This record gives sequence, structure tokens and C-alpha cells, in this order.
Amino acid sequence: MLLLDVETRAFRNLEDQRVQVSPQTTVLFGQNGQGKTNFLEAIYLLCTLRPLRAQKLAELIRLGTHEGTQVAGRFELPGGVRTVEVEIGAQGRAARVDGKPVRDPDELFGGLATVAFTPDDLAVVKAGPEGRRRLLDRAVQNRHPSQIVDARDYLKALRSRNQLLRQRSSPDLLAAFDGPLARLGARLRQRREEVLGEVRPLAQKAFAEVARGEAPLQLTYLAAGRDSDDLASAGPLLEERLLEALRRRQPRDEERGYTSVGPHADDLGLLVGDRPARLYASQGQSRAVVLAFKIGEIENLRRTQGRAPLLLLDDVSSELDPQRNAFLMSYLAALKGQVVLTTTDPQLVAKSAAHEALFHRVFAGTIAPADPAGN
Ligand SMILES: Nc1ncnc2c1ncn2[C@@H]1O[C@H](COP(=O)(O)OP(=O)(O)O)[C@@H](O)[C@H]1O
Ligand SMILES: [Mg+2]
Repeated sequence: MLLLDVETRAFRNLEDQRVQVSPQTTVLFGQNGQGKTNFLEAIYLLCTLRPLRAQKLAELIRLGTHEGTQVAGRFELPGGVRTVEVEIGAQGRAARVDGKPVRDPDELFGGLATVAFTPDDLAVVKAGPEGRRRLLDRAVQNRHPSQIVDARDYLKALRSRNQLLRQRSSPDLLAAFDGPLARLGARLRQRREEVLGEVRPLAQKAFAEVARGEAPLQLTYLAAGRDSDDLASAGPLLEERLLEALRRRQPRDEERGYTSVGPHADDLGLLVGDRPARLYASQGQSRAVVLAFKIGEIENLRRTQGRAPLLLLDDVSSELDPQRNAFLMSYLAALKGQVVLTTTDPQLVAKSAAHEALFHRVFAGTIAPADPAGN
């Protein structure tokens, strides 16, 4: 898949415009606050139907606009050029491929694998489990786009169960959700562990290259309530173990008003040597860990799909030290995939990307081809 161009309307601070994207590297440069990340957000929405950093899709609508926002993009696929349109309005989100409505990202030609790498990602090592779950889940969704349907059904059942817990409903009513939660939860977790198993050796190799001389990277799946997990791990099926744990923890969950086991509460364990990176890693190490995970994800997609995913890099060069940035730039140059990246300083990327890159200046929401030397 190749993204050819992107057209936005009433999208955040972006002018209504069509922007051409290079089949190799596109560099968006400009001062802070001009709309660089917003453009990546538009691409991410187009490929995944989900927001990149926004909490809610409605945030993407230009402030002061009463109608919604629209993003359209043309993709070159084996079957020819196809147009994807995404619209966000008061009624929510609607997406179409060549005019035909689609509901989920897996209906976009079986999924448009897109890996984003943002300054927020660089912070996940030190923060709470949510960011690390998202890191893993985004890798799972690229690999298995239909996962999103299970994830949505799981979340629906979870919300209902939590509501019942808070209302102190009858145990029978609660128990009605345990079955679906265990079934969907087991599936979600299995997929996560599967993808983690695929990414692990590739991320470890990347980490060894990025962080020369450091202890090796370890990636582990940390299930919530491991006490119950381990006790029952002799049991035949993850689904049965989860069901058991849900039942056993019901009194405790009632006290707290939420469901304490299941994939929504699990974590991705990141260790350098045998030390949890969350507690012991330096800032430089933490960034190397995330960089290695992302490269592991990209390499895994390349291995399984036969081509590199679309890469979106948001201002990452300024967050990495010169050595790691140089590593990333040479990795990207060798990858020969499609990359859209943003930077405040085009010099940080110009050296490696110079030959085939298309440079756009972003200024007050307008994106226009420009010479990175500043003319
Ligand atoms: N919904 C919105 N409507 C209009 N402007 C917005 C909206 N959301 C964010 N912005 C504006 O977009 C600008 C930030 O764009 P951003 O892409 O983050 O900049 P950059 O990445 O170039 O630093 C800010 O000026 C912000 O106020
Ligand atoms: Mg930005």
C-alpha cells in the first residue's frame, strides 16, 4: 500500500487543502504549533479510523465549525487506486471506500498497517500501564485488524459488569457477564501474547543495536491478578482460568466497584537485564526501549506482510540523542518504506533523507512544498 495524497476539510487548524505524499520520505517541517502533528493525526485517522493522540474524535473538528470534519486519502493498492474518506460529525464517525460505507478498519483492504512513533510513546516506559497496553494493542491491531471487534465487544461487557458492580446488583446478573468477558478476554490476551512473542526477538535485536553494551531487553506479559493466574495455570484453558478468577474476585471487585482481572488490567513488562525499566531505566534507556519495540513491530509486519507498514514519526528526532537519532535515520533509509515525519529542524533529518525526500513547510495550518534550507 502507498498513500498518495491527503485532503483535509475543517480538520483542526489545517487549511482545507490537498497534500501530496512521497512514496518514500515526506518531511514536514515548521515551528511548534503550526499543524505538523495535526497532519499526522489526519493520516492516522485515514488508515486506522481512530485518533492518534486525541482522546475523542470530536476534538479533531476545527474549533468554531458547526459541521464536521472530513479527511480523504488516495491509496495505491494491488487492485488499483482507491479512495478512503472519513467524516466526523455530531453523529460520530463515518468511513467510506470508493463511496461505499465501511465500519471497521479491517474493512479497509484488510487493514492499512500504520506504525506511529510520537513523543508520547517515549514516555510510556515510566508512566502507568495504560500507555504500555496501548503500545502492545496497536501492534496487535496492525497484525490482526479484526481484533478491534473483539476489543469493542469486550469493553462493552466490561462496562456493563462494572456498572452492575457499583449498583451492587444481584450475583446472578453479574455472572451473566462473566462468560462473555472470559471468552473475549482470553482471545484478546492470547493475541497479545502471540504478537508479543513475534515482536520480542526482533525488538531484542534492535535494542542490542541501539543500546550497545547495555544488558539485554526483556519483554514479558504481566497479567493482572497473577496470583489467580498462577494458581490455576495448570488448568487447561485461559478462558476457564479467567472465568475462575472473575468469580473468585467478585467479592473484592464489588468492594472496589470495578473488575480487577482481565486484559484491560494487564501490563507489558519491560526490563533491561532483570531490572524493570519503569523503575530503573534512565531517560536515554527508556527511549531506546521504545525505539526497539517500534522497530521490532515494524520488522514483524515486514516479515508477516511482506512489506513495511506506513510509518508516522512525530518530532522524534528532537527527543532522541544524536547517536540514537542517527541509528533511527539509517534504519529508515535502509527500510525503503513509506515514511511521513515531522520536525522543527529539517537539518536533523535532511542528511539521511535528502535524496528522495519530499519537503513541506507547515505554517499556520498551510502545508506547502519548500526547500528545507529555508527558501
Ligand atoms: N480542534 C481544533 N481546531 C482548531 N485548532 C486546533 C484544534 N486542535 C488543535 N488546534 C490547534 O492546532 C495547533 C497545534 O497543531 P500541532 O499539529 O500540534 O502543531 P505542531 O505539531 O506543528 O507543533 C495549535 O495552534 C492548536 O491550538
Ligand atoms: Mg507536534
